[in-house]
Amino acid sequence: MTALNREWFDNLFDEDTAKVWHDVLSFQCTLFSPGEIAILKELGMSKESGPLLDLGCGIGIYSRELKKHFPGLEIVAADTNAALLRRFEADIKRLRLCGIRVAKWNAGKEPPPPEVSKCRSALLSVVLQHNQDPKSVLVALRKSLPSRASVFIIDEDDGLVLSDPSCAAFKKVLDAFSTYQAAHGGTRTFGRQIPRLARQAGLIVDDARICAHASGTLGLEPLFKLFKLALPLIVDGSPHGLRREAAKELARGLDLYVEAHGDHCSIIFPKVIVHAVVP
Ligand SMILES: C[S@@+](CC[C@H](N)C(=O)[O-])C[C@H]1O[C@@H](n2cnc3c(N)ncnc32)[C@H](O)[C@@H]1O
Repeated sequence: MTALNREWFDNLFDEDTAKVWHDVLSFQCTLFSPGEIAILKELGMSKESGPLLDLGCGIGIYSRELKKHFPGLEIVAADTNAALLRRFEADIKRLRLCGIRVAKWNAGKEPPPPEVSKCRSALLSVVLQHNQDPKSVLVALRKSLPSRASVFIIDEDDGLVLSDPSCAAFKKVLDAFSTYQAAHGGTRTFGRQIPRLARQAGLIVDDARICAHASGTLGLEPLFKLFKLALPLIVDGSPHGLRREAAKELARGLDLYVEAHGDHCSIIFPKVIVHAVVP
């Protein structure tokens, strides 16, 4: 996965990389989904929202979490990355998960699979920040979902991150991810763009919220653990990738901050959540 100007997830992952993504996305969902799903409910997501298109489902962890909160919700889980989808399909079989269909789709670049036109809602969780042309994905949804369908978009924006006392180590970690992601045409300041791009794509923007994931409620160590788990994903020999030693150094910086401040600090890592509607 070193080719510049290719989107991160357009590259076929080897099994080791897919396994790291599995661990990162699973832990991320455990940490963040309770706060996010509470907001999705406030914004109107319910068990009647199905069939729901979980676009960019990855290994399907978020789909599985939604099924717990909305029993009976039918899900169409789509992704462009075959290695991640394969893992999800294996889990569906192994765990005998019902009501989830998997489809391969590179949204914005390929025509939609036929089941998308039947979906009454869509969720995009941490998907659009990885796309070189996120508006084309939203346009594809506006054109392929039925009228009045809901589109829920959750994404990160590093510009909203707060720390007290100031945490230079966390800033360095986020900068390393930002450099890697930008080389693939993505951005880690995507949250702020969502309402504008959704409107430009022809969707009606109904509401926009901020979900403040805070060390005070989640715990500082779990919050930093997520980023330490993810660091190996940007270790490679490319000019924009991290060297293994540099990754260790960044992880060590987070550990030192925890040792120095323990409970006497506060980190807030917010995400933007938008509800838009197909006209
Ligand atoms: C960071 S993962 C998030 C996975 C999952 N939504 C979650 O929150 O756990 C981003 C996923 O979006 C997928 N993705 C990115 N752009 C996509 C596109 N245009 N069409 C389909 N899948 C896409 C990637 O392949 C990857 O699996």
